[in-house]
Parts: sequence; C-alpha cells; structure tokens
Amino acid sequence: MANSWTSGGLELHLDLDPGLGRRVALERALREAIRSGRLTAGAQLPSSRALAQDLGLARGTVVQAYEQLLAEGYLLSTSRTSTEVAPVPGTPPSPPEPGKQRGQALHNLEPGTPDVSGFPRTQWASALRHAVATVPDEDLRYGDPRGHPALRRALAAYLARVRGVRVSEQQLIICSGFAQGLGLVSGALRAQGASTMAVENYGLRFHYEIVEGTGLRLLPVPMDADGLVVEQLPAADGVLVTPSHQMPSGTTLHPARRTALVEWARERGALVIEDDYDGEFRYDRQPIGAVQGLAPEQVVYAGTASKSLAPAIRLAWLAVPHRLVEPIVAARKLAERHCPTFDQVALAHLLDSGGLDRHLRRMRAHYRKRRDLLLDALRERVPQVRPTGIAAGLHVTLLLPEQGPDQREVARILAARGVATHPLSFYSRQPMAEQGLVIGYATPAGHAFQPAVRALVDGLSSVYD
Ligand SMILES: Cc1ncc(COP(=O)(O)O)c(C=O)c1O
Repeated sequence: MANSWTSGGLELHLDLDPGLGRRVALERALREAIRSGRLTAGAQLPSSRALAQDLGLARGTVVQAYEQLLAEGYLLSTSRTSTEVAPVPGTPPSPPEPGKQRGQALHNLEPGTPDVSGFPRTQWASALRHAVATVPDEDLRYGDPRGHPALRRALAAYLARVRGVRVSEQQLIICSGFAQGLGLVSGALRAQGASTMAVENYGLRFHYEIVEGTGLRLLPVPMDADGLVVEQLPAADGVLVTPSHQMPSGTTLHPARRTALVEWARERGALVIEDDYDGEFRYDRQPIGAVQGLAPEQVVYAGTASKSLAPAIRLAWLAVPHRLVEPIVAARKLAERHCPTFDQVALAHLLDSGGLDRHLRRMRAHYRKRRDLLLDALRERVPQVRPTGIAAGLHVTLLLPEQGPDQREVARILAARGVATHPLSFYSRQPMAEQGLVIGYATPAGHAFQPAVRALVDGLSSVYD
C-alpha cells in the first residue's frame, strides 16, 4: 500500500508492505524513511490522529508504531502532543568537528564489529595463496551448494572440538554471513508451513527484519539475568536465540534453561536457531558448549567469521538437522549457488593449520585487556553505571541509574561529544523500563581505543557527577 501524507506541512511517501501487519508495516516504512534520510532529525511528525486519517489506519495503530520508534530511539517526544525525528542512534546530532561526515563518530563504540586492525592479513594472504596454488582445476567449476568439502570437513572437526557441536560435514552449509543463513533457515521453515518465530527481546532488529521478510511473524519473548525466559515461550514454530552471550544484554542462558529450551522444541516439533556469533570469546571461565550438542535434530547451530576474523570475510556456517538439509540446500542453490571457492578453501587452511586458533588466542588476550581497561575506567570515574554481560564477547551493556536522564538522552549527550554508542532501546520491539547503553569495545582500531574510553567516561561523568 503506497501512501503519502502532507499533514503539518511535511510531505512524505510511505510504502506500507501489504504482506505485513499494519503496525509493523508502518514502523518499517518510518524506519526506512528515517534511515534513508528522507525524514531528517528534527522533522515534526503529524499527530497520530492526522496520520491515521491520511493513511486510512486506526489511530491506535499509529500510536503503537510511534511508541515503538520512540523506544528504539528513532523518534523523540518533544511535548505531550508533539513527536519529531531523532538523530539516528549513535550518530552525533551535529558534527563536532568541521568536515566530519554524518554517521562517522570520532569515537566509535557501537557494537557489531571486531577490532579490524587486528585482522591477520599475513596469515590470510598466505592461506589464500595456498588455496589458489592447490585447488584442483575441477573445483573451479560450479561446486556443491553446501560449500566446499574441504571447509565443511575442517569446520565439522573445529566445531566439535571448540564448541561441542555434533555435526557431519553433510549437514554443514556454508553461507554468506549469518544474515544470509538466517534468511535461508526462516525461508525453509516458512515454505514448510511455519508461521511464527519467537525471538529474544532484546535482539538485533536487522535480524528481526530478515525473519519477518520471509513472512514469519515475530513473537518477542522476555529475558532476565539468566537469559531467555524459556517458560514464557509461546506456541511458535521456531526460536532465535544467542545462548552463549546474549546480544545485546550479554547474559548466558542458564544450564536448566538450555535443557528446557530443547525440551520445548522437541515437544512442539519446533526449531531452535542458535546464533553463536561470538562464542569463541569468553574470558572468565571455560567456554560453554553449544546448545546444539544437546539436541542436534532440534537445533540449527550458526557460526560466523564476522567476529573471529572480520565481517568483510562474509563466511558463516549452519549445522542443520537432517530434515532441513535438503530444503535449505535447495534455497542456497537459488541464492548465489555457493560462496567463493578460494575464500572457502583459504578458511579451511586457516582452520587445519591451527592459524585460526593462534589468531583467536591473540585476540582473546587483546579483547580481555580492553575489557579490563574499560571496566577499570568506569569503576573509577562513573561507579553509578553498572556493566553487565562482561564475561564474554566484544561488548558490554551499561545499566544506567534510574535517577537521571534516560538512555536516549545519555546516548545523545555522548554523541554530541563524538562518542557513538547504542541505547539499549535500540534492540527492543517493546518499551522497556530498563535503561542502558551498549558499548562495543572491540570497534575502535588499536590507537583509537584509549581515547575512546576516555571520551566515554568523560561524557558519562558529565552526566552523573
Ligand atoms: C547477534 C549477531 N549475530 C550474528 C552476527 C554476524 O552476522 P554476519 O555473519 O551476517 O556478519 C552478528 C554481528 O554483528 C551479531 O551481532
């Protein structure tokens, strides 16, 4: 449904996807308009009544969509009746230095990427050279849509050893990032008649959108200090979880809940999608094995090179229950058939030669040092904030004091000082009382880390001192 509004002097074309519920379609269209810059910071939105009238929607639908985008930080409520577009979370409202482009913070502490300045260029170059020198001519034709056998073999052994995953190379499917893998699995479920997917709330909205894009309806499930509240799982066809290190809250799914989760899936014939995006990075105790190891026929285990190497590698892997191999492979074939063969063979070489293990050992020590520096600085300068989810991964969540400005205001104050972070509400589909900031301490390159931490604690102490 295409629609325009002109209320309040603002003219905007909105494309409401007829395949989605009206509220979800409106939220998505508004997000798209803000992200693409068609609606810019400070633009006044029409009243919910006026917009509902213009779009032919119920007023409650518009009110709910506005509330959602307020919670996510896309909108600001400037008075009881007035709503305007917020600066996109994590980007400064106005450039703090001349010439700096919008969206590029001086100190980028947004979560989502490893320290790319630590990428093992020499090892990768030599692995690629090895691949180009040794791959037989026959392998330069179209290959198996599951991925190159050398990589699937290497991964089956690596995942069993490092993450306790139980999988044969026949059930491994290499894909272009978890993002693609999530779309493949969700699409295969949908094609088999599934209609709903439960998700942790908080979660990556990009992933929510991928699932919704396949036609599945999202059912957000609450979390507590022990991770997803499994007892509150609804009657869904699948559930997307980050059990080793919840994104973004950082919790680890409690052992009793891991068992309950696979029981839930078994009883319902539902599928667990285990997103193990940063499972290699655990600092304070033994890594926790993958949930998949408990029930390989109920769980799709997904890993990625985006945190262990770099997002630019675009290689990820799915360990898939037998019944789903064929439908996912069929979908994979229609995507781009398979990932580039040389890259796959290079990664296989990095795994087989122990190069990835060495790199991970180095990076684990590096991130641990960063995490400790960050936590020390926070403890010393801003004891009012409470870091959580610190035992693993590449980000921490800072819970903010109840007294004081709300999370979006704190993120804005930091952004004005050139420090990009994400308010916790950025990851929620529902308004939440909890106030927090998510800090990606791996994101700055080597030299930029300490100045970024200094700017962060300076900014936070300006709020709480
Ligand atoms: C929760 C979560 N899952 C998966 C990924 C990796 O996604 P991809 O493999 O598509 O780069 C990330 C990266 O930021 C993430 O935060």
